[in-house]
Amino acid sequence: MKPSVLVTKRVYPEAIEYLKEHCEVDYAGTDNGLTAGELKERVRGKQAIVSQLTDKFPAAVIDSLQGVQIIANVAVGFDNIDVPAATRKGILVSNTPDVLTETTADFAFTLLLAAARRVVEGHEFVHSGAWRKWYIDLLVGQDVHHKTLGIFGMGRIGQAVARRGRGFSMRILYHDAIRAPEKVERELALEFVSVEQLLGESDFISLHVPLLDSTRKLIGEAQLKLMKRTAVLVNTSRGPVVDEAAVAKALAQGWIAGAGLDVFEREPEVNPELLKLKNVVLAPHIASASVDTRREMSLLAARNAVAALEGRRPPTLLNPELWGSRSAQPGA
Ligand code: DGY
Repeated sequence: MKPSVLVTKRVYPEAIEYLKEHCEVDYAGTDNGLTAGELKERVRGKQAIVSQLTDKFPAAVIDSLQGVQIIANVAVGFDNIDVPAATRKGILVSNTPDVLTETTADFAFTLLLAAARRVVEGHEFVHSGAWRKWYIDLLVGQDVHHKTLGIFGMGRIGQAVARRGRGFSMRILYHDAIRAPEKVERELALEFVSVEQLLGESDFISLHVPLLDSTRKLIGEAQLKLMKRTAVLVNTSRGPVVDEAAVAKALAQGWIAGAGLDVFEREPEVNPELLKLKNVVLAPHIASASVDTRREMSLLAARNAVAALEGRRPPTLLNPELWGSRSAQPGA
């Protein structure tokens, strides 16, 4: 008998085709996601779950799973899954790194440029018919080239953003809990600095940290007050990394010049104060949303699930320590 996989939400069809070649597939092919009750019901008898960032797997849900060998998340972020709880339970967890690195970095830079050069304000100005005359300081913004870019988190995406910054002749500062390898620092001409120096010297600050207890509200009132009044903040990581109310206050009161936000604390809700502002560019969590990348993410999650079910190591496993002890019964 073929193993069974539950796919909690719509993914690219190529992923479903691939899964069907190897498994029985229970496909919740809508964009709604499953309620906790529906998940409990449908996961019965399944050996794998292909999940998305809107599916929550806290310890209590993980502990209730029976016979599940892998949760294959269609996202690089995995703050929706209690990975230590899964590891304790013997359940593999995988994510989708690499395939979205360049696409996400493109979008971080898109937000940076759009906020700096007031692209959305310009679009609305023209579109609304308000443009009557040209004048010398019409919608003037901040230069990006030759400015200082501060990056929090120098992982794959942080490095890809740094490469784009190099293309704009920017000085690049970064901070991370773990310093980047010397080779990376040298190749990208990165300067490792303290949080305070990064906040105080950067013209643009882009966040590329995972959501952890240590990164929750990394940017709050105190940090925003240390930033330049001309600075632009970009967040394509996870919403709770910034204090949204504090950012709205900083933008309204001119502590910083602008922001580009793709992620929010309580998606799809957005702090209403942000919606009143012109100096923020808002996007609905779409940094990795190119056709090619979302297809690749879907496929990589499917490959991770099938690998686990066939007794092969999933290509992008998050709890490899479990793989070492693989002779133990998974998902018991
Ligand atoms: C991720 O992969 O974690 C993004 O937030 C969604 O693509």
